[in-house]
Amino acid sequence: MTDSSLDSSHEIPAAAFRRSLANRHAHAAEAMRRVLSSGQLILGTEVSDFETEFAAFTGTQHAVGVASGTDALILALRALEIGPEDEVICVANGPVPTVAAIRAVGATPRFVDVDSGTLQLDVNLVEMALTTRTRCLLPVHLYGCPVDLDPLVSLAESHNLKLIEDCAQAHGARYGNRHVGTSAAIGCFSFYPTKNLAALGDAGACITNDPNLDQRLRELRMYGFRGRAIAEIDGMNSRLDELQAALLRPALAALPAALQQRSEHAAAYLSGLNSDLLRLPNVTARGTAAWHQFVIRSPNRDAIQRLLREDSILCGIHYAWPVHLMPAYKDPGDGAPSLPVTEQACDEVLSLPILPELTSDEISRVIDAVNRTALQQESHSR
Ligand SMILES: Cc1ncc(COP(=O)(O)O)c(C=O)c1O
Repeated sequence: MTDSSLDSSHEIPAAAFRRSLANRHAHAAEAMRRVLSSGQLILGTEVSDFETEFAAFTGTQHAVGVASGTDALILALRALEIGPEDEVICVANGPVPTVAAIRAVGATPRFVDVDSGTLQLDVNLVEMALTTRTRCLLPVHLYGCPVDLDPLVSLAESHNLKLIEDCAQAHGARYGNRHVGTSAAIGCFSFYPTKNLAALGDAGACITNDPNLDQRLRELRMYGFRGRAIAEIDGMNSRLDELQAALLRPALAALPAALQQRSEHAAAYLSGLNSDLLRLPNVTARGTAAWHQFVIRSPNRDAIQRLLREDSILCGIHYAWPVHLMPAYKDPGDGAPSLPVTEQACDEVLSLPILPELTSDEISRVIDAVNRTALQQESHSR
């Protein structure tokens, strides 16, 4: 099978599994060979080398490989001793796992609305949402665009709160000159196959500059063992798989070039899309985005998505359903909090194709089609 036979030639995919996977055959074979010949299938040198390389990439002292991004969040919350009495500040326009992790440790998510310009946690609303039970701030760098971190770091310091950054979508994103994840006690990453840095299955990592937290995370990911097979604390099994680590290492080496492609696609969209008809993404002043998603907004979102699909341009929606209104997370006591910006965003967001493997001709085709359909819809609704 040739690479070009893996994607139908005309289709522009939202998540290029086939096209990006086709590029990974050689590395996958080599990774499998290395792991099999090492004879170390669990927590061997591939994991420890990947941890060293990922820590260097993010500019942190320690990286701890774990089984998934959700586990990274759970382990971070557990390492910081967040539990059943505690509330954690988070957003509702992101994916479910951030909230699922908070609930998994028995804590209560306290949803705060997002800024209408950036669609990131509205840092001006956080202080008002604090209660005597609030113990932790858990912002998500949604779409790979950094949250405004300095005000959150100050709030965490002045109110004695823990700060965890959910960087699952933001490998390569920066706030000022810091990689995301390094302003908090712990930064959490996912290497789910659609992420900027992708494993070929589930995988994740925590980063930290605190050696005590590094040690605690290592204990927690392996049954609470401290050096010998005796559980010193209540742990679990959440190890990064040796084979996934071996697959992640060449993907990490290729990440800067892939991030450059994403950023060129984003620049083309920002200059080519019609900003009178569509709301284009807005990145926090001190932020450098990693462009995991390129999210536009329109009240005609559903029609635009349908017309683009007819043109073989596949777009995603991140996310259509706000988490605070999902059956699992609706608070039966207080009712749902009022999050007007979040709810409107969920009706309007549309993620355009931005995979590094797309060509500039394909991005131009998307720009023309989006502008044309947005104009059509605008004249229909007049
Ligand atoms: C923002 C965010 N947090 C957490 C996760 C959970 O990561 P995983 O799917 O690796 O458990 C994801 C990925 O889906 C995510 O996008």
